[in-house]
Amino acid sequence: MSDVYEELFSVRGKTVVVTGGTRGIGYMIAEGYVRAGATVYVSSRKAEAVAVAEASLSKLGTCAGIPADLSTEAECRRLAGEVARRAPQLDVLVNNAGATWGAPIDEYDEAAWRRVLDLNVKGLFHLTKFLRPQLEAASMPDDPARVINIGSIDGIQVPLLETYAYSASKAAVHQLTRHLAKRLAPKVTVNAIAPGPFESKMMAATLAAAGDAIAESAPMKRIGKPSDMAGIALYLASPAASYVTGAIIPVDGGIATVG
Ligand SMILES: NC(=O)c1ccc[n+]([C@@H]2O[C@H](COP(=O)([O-])OP(=O)(O)OC[C@H]3O[C@@H](n4cnc5c(N)ncnc54)[C@H](OP(=O)(O)O)[C@@H]3O)[C@@H](O)[C@H]2O)c1
Repeated sequence: MSDVYEELFSVRGKTVVVTGGTRGIGYMIAEGYVRAGATVYVSSRKAEAVAVAEASLSKLGTCAGIPADLSTEAECRRLAGEVARRAPQLDVLVNNAGATWGAPIDEYDEAAWRRVLDLNVKGLFHLTKFLRPQLEAASMPDDPARVINIGSIDGIQVPLLETYAYSASKAAVHQLTRHLAKRLAPKVTVNAIAPGPFESKMMAATLAAAGDAIAESAPMKRIGKPSDMAGIALYLASPAASYVTGAIIPVDGGIATVG
């Protein structure tokens, strides 16, 4: 009986891809998986950042890096090919790479929309599409493969800042999660994490300007910690979450309940 419960939350031996795994939330997730005994591939655009993340995560377990710019379909196909060569069976894909853009409404132009939607929505879709054979190959009847998308509470509530493409992209990520969950079942589950505020390059300016106020406004009275993000990612990848699909899970200290 105890063995069953030890396995229930385990990801040991699983193979995982984390996009945008070189810093911020992606690194928090990648570190959680590496420490828990998974083999983790991290990816982002900058080869140097990929090499640095690979080196530091390799001190904790098994990690390799593959650079790719996931804002184009061609690069999503190339990354999927690189992953397939190394790992014909992929247990978990974490679609975390994302970008934001803020500008006053009158200046919010086509380039801003393209920059955000190409990566946050289309890149997530294309990479999932191209890695579906490897995910399905890893799937077992009682332990399906997993896609974990990183949405945002900004896709649930209206944000304070003028980030029109970003909030729309995250609402799209949440609905795409549900749509893909229906299509990819029963071999692959698809869920989304909707983070509140976590320290990262993307959030640095916001937290520097208003970090204390943001923490105070959260029912849990703080911003997120790396272990909060690693914990939900580990759960969603583990046998414990085999029957969970199409879920959007806020990890935000309750902020979305009061916004
Ligand atoms: N931090 C928060 O509070 C928060 C809250 C809600 C949701 N999120 C979401 O969490 C995810 C991670 O955000 P973060 O805050 O950790 O941001 P971040 O620090 O800016 O990290 C973004 C990551 O994505 C990579 N990336 C950016 N553009 C890319 C591209 N075109 N192709 C491939 N990789 C690319 C970056 O590396 P390179 O620059 O090397 O490409 C980096 O590894 C995003 O989806 C974001 O929307 C964050």
